[in-house]
Amino acid sequence: MKALVFRGPGQKALEEKPEPKIEKPSDAIVRITKTTICGTDLHILKGDVPTVKPGTTLGHEGVGIVESVGDGVANFKPGDPVLISCITACGKCEYCRRQMYSHCTTGGWILGNLIDGTQAEKVRIPHADTSLYHLPKGEDEEALVMLSDILPTGFECGVLNGKVQPGQSVAIVGAGPIGLAALMTAQFYAPGRIIMIDLDDNRLEVAKKFGATDTVNSKGGDAVERVMALTGNRGVDVSIEAVGVPATFAICEAIVGAGGTIANVGVHGTKVDLHLERLWSHNITLTTGLVDTYTTPMLLSTVESKRLEPARLVTHRFTLDQVADAYATFGDAARSQALKVIISAS
Ligand SMILES: NC(=O)c1ccc[n+]([C@@H]2O[C@H](COP(=O)([O-])OP(=O)(O)OC[C@H]3O[C@@H](n4cnc5c(N)ncnc54)[C@H](O)[C@@H]3O)[C@@H](O)[C@H]2O)c1
Ligand SMILES: [Zn+2]
Ligand SMILES: [Zn+2]
Repeated sequence: MKALVFRGPGQKALEEKPEPKIEKPSDAIVRITKTTICGTDLHILKGDVPTVKPGTTLGHEGVGIVESVGDGVANFKPGDPVLISCITACGKCEYCRRQMYSHCTTGGWILGNLIDGTQAEKVRIPHADTSLYHLPKGEDEEALVMLSDILPTGFECGVLNGKVQPGQSVAIVGAGPIGLAALMTAQFYAPGRIIMIDLDDNRLEVAKKFGATDTVNSKGGDAVERVMALTGNRGVDVSIEAVGVPATFAICEAIVGAGGTIANVGVHGTKVDLHLERLWSHNITLTTGLVDTYTTPMLLSTVESKRLEPARLVTHRFTLDQVADAYATFGDAARSQALKVIISAS
């Protein structure tokens, strides 16, 4: 079968690989129909994620059809259309019992990291009963690919950790797919104001269409002043960091108001400053976390009931043979205006 294989920093290749086989009774083999590329895949290619060894198939998102299951799989059978969670969960270990699936002792983020991932014709899914979801009938597959990772991430690490409440002011720094996913799901809670901050005017335009009440381009270096002006100098109730660099974390710290929450979502590669000289008296909360995907069933329901329209995040489509073009397009979002790209694998 064809698979996109990581060959070391800066190198990847679409290669012929042996088809995955059931290795444990709890495994399923899924034939991928649609997959996509995550910002984290770009981090891997830059060499930022040393756990990914050369030879690993990339990708941790996708939908497909179950091809075979191990003897211990009870909830899925060959032919079932499924959503693959980016987080694999045994459902039994101490962390899984606390719904911290990202810390599962035999799972967590392993797809396209420690084991072969989804940017291939087929993938082996460990702990299939607790890591796959049945696809709602008649739903658009492309839309559902957005539920493997980015929507649960924006929702859990941004909106729920940030405790967004009706009427509140929310600022989201970073209008990439993750920031936009936080923007879409924040609206479940009817905040009064959602301010999006980015360097890219196109993404800020998209954010307006997705429900942002205000947008701030931080290129000029005055993002903090502008957010303070928008909030009557009080700062925001919730500031969501969806970039992962010191400059954007600093904005989040500077704009959080008294009693507010900074919800960090971005993956940080370097240390940041914690400005306790201002924040010590501000009763703030700082949250961090890798997505656990405990909200996936709820998000599937919101898609079924049309409360959430993830298809709006899809901008480009490719086949698996065109995966190099898909990476080039996704990797140059400022020029291509890409948000999420769909790769059809079969
Ligand atoms: N916590 C988790 O579980 C989890 C899961 C998935 C992704 N992530 C992380 O979330 C972050 C966002 O992911 P994404 O796919 O949306 O990334 P992305 O690169 O597509 O988007 C980031 C956005 O930030 C903007 N930006 C960059 N520097 C900026 C600055 N100085 N000021 C303002 N805006 C700036 C960019 O223009 C871009 O629109 C990444 O760090 C990613 O690794 C975290
Ligand atoms: Zn991801
Ligand atoms: Zn577990």
